[in-house]
Amino acid sequence: MTDTTEPHTVTFPQSRTCPYHPPTAYDPLRETRPLARISLYDGRPVWLVTGHALARTLLADPRLSSDRTRSDFPAPTERFAGLRNRKGALLGVDDPEHRVQRRMMVPSFTLRRAAELRPEIQRIVDERLDTMIAQGAPAELVSAFALPVPSMVICALLGVPYADHDFFEEQSRRLLRGPTADDTMAARDRLEAYFAELIDRKRNQPEPGDGVLDELVHQQLRAGELDQEEVIALATILLVAGHETTANMISLGTFTLLQHPDRLAELRAEPTLLPAAVEELMRMLSIADGMLRVAVEDIGTDGGTIRAGEGVVFSTSVINRDESVYPDPDTLDWHRSARHHVGFGFGIHQCLGQNLARAEMEIALRTLFERLPTLRLAVPAEEIPFKPGDTIQGMLELPVTW
Ligand code: HEM
Repeated sequence: MTDTTEPHTVTFPQSRTCPYHPPTAYDPLRETRPLARISLYDGRPVWLVTGHALARTLLADPRLSSDRTRSDFPAPTERFAGLRNRKGALLGVDDPEHRVQRRMMVPSFTLRRAAELRPEIQRIVDERLDTMIAQGAPAELVSAFALPVPSMVICALLGVPYADHDFFEEQSRRLLRGPTADDTMAARDRLEAYFAELIDRKRNQPEPGDGVLDELVHQQLRAGELDQEEVIALATILLVAGHETTANMISLGTFTLLQHPDRLAELRAEPTLLPAAVEELMRMLSIADGMLRVAVEDIGTDGGTIRAGEGVVFSTSVINRDESVYPDPDTLDWHRSARHHVGFGFGIHQCLGQNLARAEMEIALRTLFERLPTLRLAVPAEEIPFKPGDTIQGMLELPVTW
């Protein structure tokens, strides 16, 4: 183990050099397990958790807070710092408040509910592919397929009109990747105003629709268990987390499979490997690279003592390549047990939508490669733009042909 008190030279986050590998700038951090010191964009020193076992221990530790309104909460970018003034839902709150919100949401996101949604997801996937194929090759896979599929699924689940997708996809993009803090805050304001209006409309409907948002409005809001601000915050996180993340996994997952023809051939020959392949892609791609917390008490660990008030960042890409858990971690291998990766987080904030996301990824990737067996990149891989390091990782565009 390296001395974690030595001066921190790595700044986090940084952009990847290959879209499916951690930035090479993080290589020294992979030698510093389970904990390293790093600097954020503003020079603030924080802890970076790099070891798999310690990550799971700390993500389950209530002495680490998720409360983004705290002034000592770490900000990985200037635009994130700008969002600090308002309380979010779920990911932005600690227990006991978190427990109350999570309990309300869990029934809509169970494994069973995701299984019930599979025919609808398949219908959406088929319809998007019909349209893309009818328009003919080449196609831009992000806008034609990877983004609309999860966007349509989350709209159906929440009860949000898909007709508004241009608006909310654009605001989500700005929220996660806006050029400035002001732009990011304006995007959040517009999304919240949109939901305030949608909630009002739903409240005035005599009969509730069958979306999650309709339930929140007609049950929890009416009963006073949630106030309007909380329903807006819940709707915002569900909509944004529900389409942006999965869209990136579909685009980057497709790119990664096309860059690994042997693994793709193996998957085609043995389709029962698909669920394991999705887990391995989640581990390898680690698209949500940088979960954030702040210590509210001193925490002793085998890598050093985290003091109250210090920021803690979890690099999923580094944690998911801990060789003591995943031998030969940089290799894509459908036969390893990738379970227990932290690509969906861990502990009380572990991804609420993971069952849904798995169903979407399985159906989208299986159907795409079944219907287009000759699918390939339309331009050289090096020319395809991918997202910068300070946001959810994925492809900006993915030109394909068949
Ligand atoms: C492949 C796609 C997805 C990935 C990689 C992903 C990743 C994550 C991660 C890493 C966390 C934990 C963050 C932390 O602890 O700081 C999280 C939380 C969350 N995710 Fe996902 N997610 C995905 C899809 C979805 C979908 C489809 C939804 C649907 C609504 C969703 C909703 C949420 C919510 C609400 C939380 C916060 C849960 C809480 O605080 O209790 N995610 N996700």
